[in-house]
Amino acid sequence: MKQNIWEKEYKNVHSLWGFNPNSTLSQYVEMLPENGEVLDIGIGEGRNALFFAKQGYAVEGIDISETAVKRCLELSKEHNLNINAKVQDITSFEIEPNKYSLIILSNVLNFFPDKDIKIIIEKVKNGLIKNGLIKNGLVYINAFDDKEPGRKKAPEKYKQLAEHTL
Ligand SMILES: C[S@@+](CC[C@H](N)C(=O)[O-])C[C@H]1O[C@@H](n2cnc3c(N)ncnc32)[C@H](O)[C@@H]1O
Repeated sequence: MKQNIWEKEYKNVHSLWGFNPNSTLSQYVEMLPENGEVLDIGIGEGRNALFFAKQGYAVEGIDISETAVKRCLELSKEHNLNINAKVQDITSFEIEPNKYSLIILSNVLNFFPDKDIKIIIEKVKNGLIKNGLIKNGLVYINAFDDKEPGRKKAPEKYKQLAEHTL
């Protein structure tokens, strides 16, 4: 059901999120070690993943939407990059422990109820590389705020799952 909602969103447009990485996230590059691995959860069409792949990072990503993953893989090929993107649901996806220098959750968690968010965060924490204080992996979380136009319209379009979650 959730998959259908996202498929519809992506199929309606040529590009849902554009091609520029999130501007705050792009500054994380300076904090990452060379040769780090990046996991983008809810990778979408890959705007953030492409950015990190272009900087030389090994990037993996998952998304529940087949269309989004297909677009991301096409873009990756077009730019001669090697993003490993797969169709997977984060609620059942196992994140490999102690692996990633950066895990991205860009505008994803706001679609889950609190109980799922807690489970996802635990998995994410476990997936971050632990190399001592300075080199520990980072997590980037970005969520829509209440002023976001899409967020304002959401109650007309979607069912409420929990407080603040549609
Ligand atoms: C608002 S979009 C953000 C896309 C991308 N992170 C970006 O910032 O451009 C949310 C993404 O989460 C994906 N998504 C939603 N539920 C998911 C789930 N259960 N597992 C994996 N991906 C999911 C959607 O398909 C969609 O691509």
